[in-house]
Amino acid sequence: MNNTQCCVTDCERPLDKTYWDNQYKTNTTGWDLGKVSPPIKTYIDSLLNKNTAILIPGCGNAYEMEYLLQQGFTNVTVIDIAPTLTSILKQKHATNKNVKIIQGDFFEHKGRYDIIIEQTFFCALPPTLRQQYVFKMHQLLNENGLLVGLLFNRAFEVNPPFGGSKAEYELLFKDAFQFIEIDNTNNSIDARANTELFIMFKKNSTVFINLYNFEGITCSGCVADFTKMYLSFPHIKNVSINTAFNEILIVSEKEIPIQILQEAIAYDAKYKITKTLK
Ligand SMILES: C[S@@+](CC[C@H](N)C(=O)[O-])C[C@H]1O[C@@H](n2cnc3c(N)ncnc32)[C@H](O)[C@@H]1O
Repeated sequence: MNNTQCCVTDCERPLDKTYWDNQYKTNTTGWDLGKVSPPIKTYIDSLLNKNTAILIPGCGNAYEMEYLLQQGFTNVTVIDIAPTLTSILKQKHATNKNVKIIQGDFFEHKGRYDIIIEQTFFCALPPTLRQQYVFKMHQLLNENGLLVGLLFNRAFEVNPPFGGSKAEYELLFKDAFQFIEIDNTNNSIDARANTELFIMFKKNSTVFINLYNFEGITCSGCVADFTKMYLSFPHIKNVSINTAFNEILIVSEKEIPIQILQEAIAYDAKYKITKTLK
């Protein structure tokens, strides 16, 4: 973690609905493989229950959805923030009862799924949202639900995409999910060979996951101190603070009353922790 804040959510080029819609309007879609990603195809081929409830967030041109439908899956939902894209998908699949196409923000989405497929959605989000991503994925999965797909195991000079590493993901998802698989792929497309991890994370339904707003942290030194301090509390299993220093994800074996979290930082009035409404 460094002490420079990521500017992307509030700089002159926010990664919002307008930004993504413009990418589709201008056909600036360098991420688009034009086909289902091979490691995800292999995974889909291994699934037996065609009625499994599956979500694909940030679906783009949704080749994974097309493949699922071709294979006979009956309960597929896709969501993307870009209206130009989703209106085309909706027209194309208007009569198909096996798929639900939603235009909207993944972080506002409500539902419950057995499997959520990750394909270049995580890397499209500003890194400040990574704790929200873990929280939301946990919320959207059924008991024993799986988050499955691909995460980049490399950095990028120009963003998006935003990179990451296996070590970073292990810290981020720790205890909220059980890592069934987080390994280098052997059948990525050539341009992504040796840079992708195939992940299969199982929701840990035995823990409480809470996301809090935090005020007063200004540097990575404070991040390390607060992480260590909260990790020393009984029942707290994992603590992860975002790169904007304003959100904390806490995974615990028991629900921790907010007063306890607040009391621990009350020695300085500038520090404040409040539960998010998400
Ligand atoms: C890099 S593209 C990947 C698209 C597709 N998964 C693929 O691999 O071709 C990221 C996608 O996420 C969508 N997106 C970005 N932020 C989103 C959000 N908050 N909610 C839903 N979709 C979002 C964008 O519109 C875009 O289609």
